[in-house]
Amino acid sequence: MQHIDESGGYGKNTVKKGSVYIRTIGCQMNTRDSEVVKGLLSVEGYEMTDDPKKADVVLFNTCSVRDHAEQRVWSGIGLLSRKKNRPLIGILGCMAQNFKQEIFQRARAVDLVCGPAEIDNIALYLEEALKKQDKVLAVDERRRREEIYHTGFYDKRNHAYIVVSEGCDNYCSYCVVPYVRGRLRHRPAEEIVREAQAAVDAGITSITLLGQNVSAYLTEDRVCGFPALLEKVAKVKGLKSLSFITSHPKDTKKELFEAMRDIPVVRKYLHMPAQSGSDRVLAMMNRGYTAKIYRELVDLYRSIVYNGELSSDFIVGFPTESEEDFRATHELVKGVRFDSAFIFKYSARPHTKAAELPDDVPQGTKKRRHAELLELQKSISQSLKHAKTA
Ligand code: 5AD
Ligand code: SF4
Repeated sequence: MQHIDESGGYGKNTVKKGSVYIRTIGCQMNTRDSEVVKGLLSVEGYEMTDDPKKADVVLFNTCSVRDHAEQRVWSGIGLLSRKKNRPLIGILGCMAQNFKQEIFQRARAVDLVCGPAEIDNIALYLEEALKKQDKVLAVDERRRREEIYHTGFYDKRNHAYIVVSEGCDNYCSYCVVPYVRGRLRHRPAEEIVREAQAAVDAGITSITLLGQNVSAYLTEDRVCGFPALLEKVAKVKGLKSLSFITSHPKDTKKELFEAMRDIPVVRKYLHMPAQSGSDRVLAMMNRGYTAKIYRELVDLYRSIVYNGELSSDFIVGFPTESEEDFRATHELVKGVRFDSAFIFKYSARPHTKAAELPDDVPQGTKKRRHAELLELQKSISQSLKHAKTA
């Protein structure tokens, strides 16, 4: 683990603290949030452990994007709560925001619930929970303080995840993110560059910029968009590799592809989720493009970024998805030939528009479509890999 001391004022409290284990579920954004929490707790005197059996405190940094991710957390809590000398248990992240108070009813062993917008005060809440031996709930929806990104904690010695934006305003009809992570906020470009510089000065050579939709990045004065941000970060001396995820097709433009082509340290890898190949389903998903527009964007990308990699996400079994809709998705995957794709079975998420529709694609059909698409993608990924190494 890498700790660059940029804390500037954190760590004043010296009460004796125990050891903390953090289990991260979900996306890279959560991986980064866990690093931030580790940073904030370490400067307050907590010890981090990789062994949950030895921990006095176990924090689950959770994900609500799919039902499956939530089920894993409930069963993890269940296992821990049956232990004789169980640790203090905390739920952080999206499930905290999604369930709030209800978590204490569903899982009595949980002592602390802290939403994504509240993690900058995690040390305070944890101390309260340890002292009071009482439940602590922190699920306000505030803007995080900028300083929390400068505690300088990264899990890896040579790689840093750096957040460029938080939340999402797209309201794709199946997605819980806008409800648990809040409205879209962009960090100032100079803060992102400052964090990148500090990381590289400490020996990190590879950076991944993170956001639910980095392509929509724009500073408050509307001067710096994402391609310009890439240029600024790429100027950090000593940086060898710069990646970014995720790019929504509706905000991804020629200028980004040109930046990928022209800036040597930028990795030629684009994660641009299509979600479906059916125009009817895409409209129901509120994605803002058709399969044709998506294909044209891919063609543009490939014409500008020579040998660029491309990956995608797909959801099968969205409400009302017919066999014909699924065939359209199958055709898109077959035609585009992604280097890789993540394929998910639809699960209804609370608060979302799609959850108002009947989840009417039978589980067996979802399973079959999932397996079929996975099989197709596997063979494409293998043949592309083979072609590249041949
Ligand atoms: N059901 C299934 N998959 C989902 N995703 C988001 N919401 C859902 C849902 N309700 C998938 C999308 C997204 C990825 C992170 O998770 O494909 O791109
Ligand atoms: Fe969810 Fe859509 Fe935002 Fe991605 S772009 S986080 S799928 S609402």
